[in-house]
Amino acid sequence: MSRVRTIGVLGAGRVGTAVARQALRAGYEVLVATASDPSQIALIVEVTAPGARAVTAAEAVGGSDVVVLSVPMRRYDTLDPALLAGRVVVDAMNYWPATDGRLPVMEGERSTSEVVQDFLAGARLVKTLNHIGYHELETDHSPAGSPGRRALAVAGDDDEARSLVGEVVDRLGYDVVEAGPLAAGRVLEPGTEIFAGRHDGEALRALLATVREPARS
Ligand SMILES: NC(=O)c1ccc[n+]([C@@H]2O[C@H](COP(=O)([O-])OP(=O)(O)OC[C@H]3O[C@@H](n4cnc5c(N)ncnc54)[C@H](OP(=O)(O)O)[C@@H]3O)[C@@H](O)[C@H]2O)c1
Repeated sequence: MSRVRTIGVLGAGRVGTAVARQALRAGYEVLVATASDPSQIALIVEVTAPGARAVTAAEAVGGSDVVVLSVPMRRYDTLDPALLAGRVVVDAMNYWPATDGRLPVMEGERSTSEVVQDFLAGARLVKTLNHIGYHELETDHSPAGSPGRRALAVAGDDDEARSLVGEVVDRLGYDVVEAGPLAAGRVLEPGTEIFAGRHDGEALRALLATVREPARS
């Protein structure tokens, strides 16, 4: 019995609509919102993700079991911490200075998800879905048990939230590999080998092990 029935998606751009379509394919109910009035995205959602509902951000969060953040990183601080407090939230965002502009807070040693978690204090943040292209999300999926099934890593500090999100990732069509706490999200970010490639579970676990225990020179 699935613990997740409804996925809320914040962001109705390339990633948000791809996540919405893939979630619909997987049998979820899907609520999509931006920061604007739902009437502004009703047509986009109807055309790009038929079956999903355009709603307010409050309705998308309040009416869903898992919320996916698919907004540009430069907009992370326009999200509402009070709304997301206590919620299981997927951080699918990446920091791209070329499009986001420079955000010094994202350029330290900490993972960008830790910075987002600081801002969204109280949200149960899990990093995943950031290291698969939005177009690949709808083409690389396969049923559980398929040989060479593509795997995605999940990183988070909240065990139950990570487990719930893992269930969603599996149902979206991907093997799940535990990457550890949010701090480990660093190895899933742009510029890393994990971010750059397609990996099955075995390859992804091997890569994560290498990153955790770098070879001594
Ligand atoms: N490119 C990829 O393959 C890929 C893969 C995985 C993850 N990502 C990451 O996913 C994120 C989204 O990328 P994208 O290409 O989908 O961006 P996008 O096409 O620019 O769409 C962003 C969406 O976020 C909405 N938004 C902005 N602020 C919001 C807020 N506070 N609450 C709710 N919605 C808000 C925007 O609405 P308005 O237009 O009304 O502002 C827009 O619908 C980025 O962080 C990106 O790095 C990208």
